[in-house]
Amino acid sequence: MKRLQTIQELNQEISDSDKIVLVPTMGALHVGHFTLIKQAIEKAKQYGDNGKVAVSIFVNPIQFDRAVDLDSYPQPIEADLAHCERLGVDYAFTPDSSEIYHSDRSIHVSEDSLSSLLCGATRPGHFDGVCTVITKLFNLFQPAAAIFGLKDYQQLAIIKRLARDLNFRTEVMGGETVREESGLAMSSRNVGLTEASKAQAPAIRSAMLAAKAVYDRGETSADRILAAFRLHLAKHAPLSKIDYLECVCASTLQALKEVDKPAVIATAVFFKQVRLIDNIIL
Ligand code: PAJ
Repeated sequence: MKRLQTIQELNQEISDSDKIVLVPTMGALHVGHFTLIKQAIEKAKQYGDNGKVAVSIFVNPIQFDRAVDLDSYPQPIEADLAHCERLGVDYAFTPDSSEIYHSDRSIHVSEDSLSSLLCGATRPGHFDGVCTVITKLFNLFQPAAAIFGLKDYQQLAIIKRLARDLNFRTEVMGGETVREESGLAMSSRNVGLTEASKAQAPAIRSAMLAAKAVYDRGETSADRILAAFRLHLAKHAPLSKIDYLECVCASTLQALKEVDKPAVIATAVFFKQVRLIDNIIL
């Protein structure tokens, strides 16, 4: 594995014949990330000897809306590199912020439809920060494919839109959400949960399954489907506080009253200061 820390190194190492499958991350890698990397390795095999897997590890400052979140973001870089090496990654890109952002930068990428909904409503500027850094990574690597987790369903939908609207040649792929045995979606935020919260947080998943069961029995009213979620969560996770809970169209992310097309239930739930997100496809 080659570690690339500068854009110059990247440009020297990567050849025009490389068919790169990129997995963008902010590091603090866990089993969810490992699974995306393994998927990338499988995908790269399709390209024969030219197939290469690149993982970027960059805590993107411009997507954080709260300075404390950025300052406290874990950065176990040596452990992350060891994981990448062990998994068979070809390139690990670990730039400094100054390598990516000029101090007088004045151009950014802004998405102005999907970004205002769900997580975007309470995190102004967050998805513009994501779109800007992903545009830069796509320009730097010119990847044949890039993989993002379905756990961040809205992020994946926005990046698909980014690739479509800006004509990137990159195939944007989704990877299944990886969960703890309890059903809790793996996240670098889980370490911040107290013991009591950790015991209750898996109820987010079981509440999703309870809501989906109502839909599977033929209910199409979003209100009634979501009521099943609320009831289950209130009973099994009294420490939780719902930030948002919506049943949305799977492609436009617009809230639905009637579930008459492919849809997703998406939620963000607080346990004290820790905000967890999850979703389920109907
Ligand atoms: P980060 O939170 O590090 O996540 C990197 C990738 O891992 C994302 O595509 C995310 O959806 C995926 N992921 C996280 N938890 C997962 C899980 N439990 N199962 C499957 N995939 C999971 O998301 C970001 O970084 C950043 O916004 C980024 C896209 C890198 C732009 O800065």
